Amino acid sequence: MKIARFSKIGFILAAAGSAVGLGNIWKFPYITGEYGGGAFVLVYLITVALIGFSIMIAEMFIGYKGRRDTVTSFEELAPKNKSLWKYAGFQSLAGLLIMTFYSVVIGWILNYIVTSLIHLPSSVKEAEATFTSMLHSDFFTQFFYHSIAFVVITYIVSKGIKSGIEKLNDYLMPALIIILSGMFLYALSLDSFSKAFSFMFAPDWSKLNSEAFVTAVGHAFFTLSLGMGAIMTYAASMEKDTNIVHSAVWVVFLDTAIALVAGLMLFTFLYQYGSGPDKGPGLVFISLPAAFYEMGTLGNFFAVIFFIALAFAGLTSAVSLVEPMVQYMIDRFGFSRLKASISMGSFFYLVGILVILSGLDGWKESLSWGGKNLFDWIDFLTAAVMLPLGGLVMSIFVGYVVPKSEVEATLKPYLKGYFPIWYFSLRYIAPVALFVVILNLLGVM
Ligand code: PFF
Repeated sequence: MKIARFSKIGFILAAAGSAVGLGNIWKFPYITGEYGGGAFVLVYLITVALIGFSIMIAEMFIGYKGRRDTVTSFEELAPKNKSLWKYAGFQSLAGLLIMTFYSVVIGWILNYIVTSLIHLPSSVKEAEATFTSMLHSDFFTQFFYHSIAFVVITYIVSKGIKSGIEKLNDYLMPALIIILSGMFLYALSLDSFSKAFSFMFAPDWSKLNSEAFVTAVGHAFFTLSLGMGAIMTYAASMEKDTNIVHSAVWVVFLDTAIALVAGLMLFTFLYQYGSGPDKGPGLVFISLPAAFYEMGTLGNFFAVIFFIALAFAGLTSAVSLVEPMVQYMIDRFGFSRLKASISMGSFFYLVGILVILSGLDGWKESLSWGGKNLFDWIDFLTAAVMLPLGGLVMSIFVGYVVPKSEVEATLKPYLKGYFPIWYFSLRYIAPVALFVVILNLLGVM
C-alpha cells in the first residue's frame, strides 16, 4: 500500500494549522488580559524560544524517525525497555480530551458567525447577557453546533492525511492569514493601536506571580501543539528529506506572529470601541461583539469574518487533535480510517455533551468539583498538566534515551553548528523548566 505523505509546504501548513488555533486568537488575548499584559507576554515569548522550539524539533524527530503512530514510534525508537517506553505514546489521549471542549467552543463560534450576521449587542451588558444565557441555559444551540463541528471534523479526518488534512489546511490557512492581516491593517490605522502596543509589550513585573509563570509555560505548549503527539503524528507523514529545522522555524514563527497580531488587533478594538482588555474567557464573545457594534456597519462585516477566521483556526487544530489516536487505532488495531475516525470522534462528541451540561444551570452542581466544572477541569488537566508532562517525557527521551549518534545523524545536517545549543537546551533547560512547572502545579513549591 502506498502511504500518503504531506508535501513539504503541505507539512508546514498542516503543522502551523495545528498550532494556530483557538489558543492564539481566543485564549492568548484573554490570559494576557488576565495576567496584566507585557510581563506575561515576555515570559511566554522566552518559553517559546527556549523550550517550545527545542521540544518542537524533538517531537518532529520522534515522528520522522518512528514513522508510525505515537505509541509505536516511541516503542521502535527506544533502544531498550521498549514495552515501558511505548506508554509515553499515550500522551496522544490528551488530544481527545482537549477535543471535548475544543469542539464545544468551535460550536459557540459557528453560532456567533450566524448571529453576528443579523444582530450585534449594543452594549457589553447585552453581550454578556447573550453569552451567559447561551452558556447557562441554552443546551440546544450548543448541542446543535457541537454536533456540526463533530460531523465536519470527523469527515475531514476520515479522508486521511492527503485529501483530508492537507487539503483543508491548503485552503483555510491562507484564508485565515488574509483575513487577520486585513483586520490588523485596519487596527493599525486607529489611535488606540499604540495603547494596545504598550499594554502588550511594556512589562509590569508586579503582575507576574508564579501562577502567571506556570500559565505562560502551559500556554506555550498548548499554542504550539506540543506534548501530545499531534506534531509527532504529522511528522510521521513527512516526505523523507523534509528539512525538520526549517519546518519547525516556520511553525513557531507563524504561531507566534499570529498570536501577537491577534492580540494587538483585539486590544486595539477593545480600547478604541469597547471596555478595555480584561474580560476573561468571554473576551471574544462578550467585549468584542460589543466593540464591533460601536464600529457601525463595518462592525457587522468584521464580526462575521472574524468569527469565520476563528472557526478556520479551530478546525485546522481540531483535526490534529483527533488524528494521533485515529492513527493509533489504524496502526495497532487494524481499524479502517473511517471506523477509527468515527469511534474517536464519538468519544469527544459524547464527553463534549457532558462538557456542555457542566455549564448549564441545574447540571452545573453535579458536574463540578472543587470550584471547577468539567470544562475547567479538562482544560486545566490537559493544558497545565498533561502537555508539560508530555514535553518533559519527550525531552528526556530524545535527550537521554535515544543514542546521541542517532539524533545527530538526523538533525545535524539541518541544525549544523547550532546542534550543541539545541541539544543542551533539550537536555538541561527544557526538563528543568518543565519539572519546576509540574512541581509548582502539585503545590510542592
Ligand atoms: N495549538 C492549538 C491552539 O493553539 O488552539 C491547540 C492544540 C492543537 C493543542 C493540537 C495541542 C495539540 F496537539
